[in-house]
Amino acid sequence: MNKLKMKIRRHFDKADKTYDDYCLVQNDACICLLEMLKSYAGQFEVIADFACGTGESTLKLIETICYQRCYAVDFSANLLRIARKKLPDSVSFILSDFDISVFKRSSLDLVFCNMGLQWSADFQKTLALFRSYLRPQGYLVFSMPVYGNFPEMKNEFKYPLPAYDQVIQFLKNSHFKVLQSCVYQQAELFESYSEALNSLQKIGSNISLVDKGLKKMKEQDFFVDKMGVLPILTYRIAIYICQK
Ligand SMILES: C[S@@+](CC[C@H](N)C(=O)[O-])C[C@H]1O[C@@H](n2cnc3c(N)ncnc32)[C@H](O)[C@@H]1O
Repeated sequence: MNKLKMKIRRHFDKADKTYDDYCLVQNDACICLLEMLKSYAGQFEVIADFACGTGESTLKLIETICYQRCYAVDFSANLLRIARKKLPDSVSFILSDFDISVFKRSSLDLVFCNMGLQWSADFQKTLALFRSYLRPQGYLVFSMPVYGNFPEMKNEFKYPLPAYDQVIQFLKNSHFKVLQSCVYQQAELFESYSEALNSLQKIGSNISLVDKGLKKMKEQDFFVDKMGVLPILTYRIAIYICQK
């Protein structure tokens, strides 16, 4: 595992006690994703929730669709520990990096991933891996923040994200049919800059590519100059319903 990935995992591991209280945007994305999925299919044999985290997305997934076997996959041992307590025995847990092969070819009917694929080391490779797990006509259903996320923050302090259209191109290159997709914005208002930055730390997503000098910086130095009276973080989230 490379240094950047270890750093990402460390941040998520540290968010184990706070994630569930701060994951409102992630929960909303999951509800939206499942609403869209329901209009295509509601019955599956074998399903997997990749980057399941504390199991919030897995719980919503299994409450919404019919399934026979469900796997929940994440590389954060601490978050998976919380998920184990929350989910029924019908769910099996796999502690693994989603960029590494964990399932046999043609073994899944649904690959689900809520707000996790942005952490992929190589988007195109991860898509190819996910496609290999799917049976013919199997579904890949995911949400993720895309380029334009947090315009209020300076670029050097954000994790780089592909654009909404770029993801569609990646999906087409990987021979997925894109059945439906959309992009939306959701703004969160905060009392202070530190509260805004804290909201990211509490869900483990405060990952910037810059490391040096962060501790010496003032909270507002992370943000672009022209902010209103109260700090805002505007999420730009995309949803994709795809079929093999
Ligand atoms: C924002 S959380 C989403 C969790 C959950 N799906 C939800 O909706 O609440 C992102 C998750 O991605 C996981 N993650 C990031 N990179 C990963 C990787 N390479 N392999 C497996 N899990 C990963 C993190 O550990 C974290 O649990």
